[in-house]
Amino acid sequence: MKTILITGGAGFIGSNFIYYMVEQHPDYKLINLDALTYAGNLENLKDVPDSANYTFIKGDIRDRELVDRIFNEYDITNVINFAAESHVDRSIEEPEIFLTTNIIGTQVLLDAAKKHWKVKPDDKYDREYKNDVKFFQVSTDEVYGDLGPTGLFTEETNLAPNSPYSASKTSADLLVRAYHVTYGMPMNITRCSNNYGSYQFPEKLIPLMLNNCINEKPLPVYGDGMQIRDWLHVYDHCSAIDTVLHEGRDGEVYNIGGNNEIANIEIVKLIINALGKSEDLITYVKDRPGHDRRYAIDNTKITTELGWKPSYTFEEGIRETINWYLENQTWMQNIVSGDYMKYYTDMYSKT
Ligand code: NAD
Ligand code: DAU
Repeated sequence: MKTILITGGAGFIGSNFIYYMVEQHPDYKLINLDALTYAGNLENLKDVPDSANYTFIKGDIRDRELVDRIFNEYDITNVINFAAESHVDRSIEEPEIFLTTNIIGTQVLLDAAKKHWKVKPDDKYDREYKNDVKFFQVSTDEVYGDLGPTGLFTEETNLAPNSPYSASKTSADLLVRAYHVTYGMPMNITRCSNNYGSYQFPEKLIPLMLNNCINEKPLPVYGDGMQIRDWLHVYDHCSAIDTVLHEGRDGEVYNIGGNNEIANIEIVKLIINALGKSEDLITYVKDRPGHDRRYAIDNTKITTELGWKPSYTFEEGIRETINWYLENQTWMQNIVSGDYMKYYTDMYSKT
């Protein structure tokens, strides 16, 4: 039986992952540690059944004392580290929090895992760990930087991050690697392409465009809109993480992607057409500084070695996603109005 510390489980991918795990592995105990930053939303988790083997802890991955206490209290077998500052545009405005959360936060988690999982934690030469423990770092394809017009990112592609966000994720990724090499920490790292699906914060391309389009507001397309991303439905990211958690070879990195290269402008037009709005809403704005032009994943390693494959076509996934946002406009309005934050303040000012 696993007891998994899921960090950042109130965010977009983390909350989808909790639903996925409750369904797929109802016997696993899930501890969700989330600081509830602007991107964390407990409303994302309101449909987790009361009967689920699930506990929420409001807290920061940078808080050593708290993280240590969690390891003392629960017999944690795995950490799956989703917690991060995740938005590139914010990292350009304010890099520092990206460094502290994404890098130092990861190191705090690694230190706690080392202390509690090593059979002889005080012996730096001993590399024996408890059975079946693993540290899982949820990384990103952005660590590889800009791909250029041809080719695909493999796990061997040089790391060349271009934004403060991706530089911080790369640092975290390398720290996890270093803990594996130096201390023998059992680990996997996954590097996934752009996710889409339910519960994504409306600062990211698809939910932002959907919300603006529904409300007939301008759709801000950066530069010429011809930047390419490799889109993956969030459910398929979750199933890939589940696969690597159980089957991944110790110390390995796995790329995750769905072979869906699409230019931003195509996605924007698809949304406009699906909602029956006018392309006049498209507003070309100044490009993002340091904007990576193209990402695309070679997923051969995970598909051939571990047998994972995506279940959604982009057509199915985007249709389902558009319907979800149309049916959950209150969720969106609560975010846009800031009401979801007031809920936290009320709830946690009493504790
Ligand atoms: P998100 O911004 O929606 O959620 C991040 C969550 O982390 C939020 O719930 C937030 O409250 C929490 N958090 C932030 N700082 C914290 C801290 N110091 N302590 C505890 N919790 C904290 O992000 P997401 O899109 O769900 O991404 C999750 C992870 O997946 C990130 O590590 C991101 O780098 C990675 N990733 C995302 C994508 C994507 O397309 N969204 C693709 C590949 C990898
Ligand atoms: O590739 C994985 C990464 O995907 C993750 O690591 C990040 O956490 C996640 O945020 C995402 O990064 P991107 O920068 O690719 O996602 P974003 O949704 O911000 O932007 C997608 C593309 O759309 C990008 O080329 C910028 C463009 N864009 C975005 C916004 C918000 C616009 O043209 N206009 C916009 O308003």
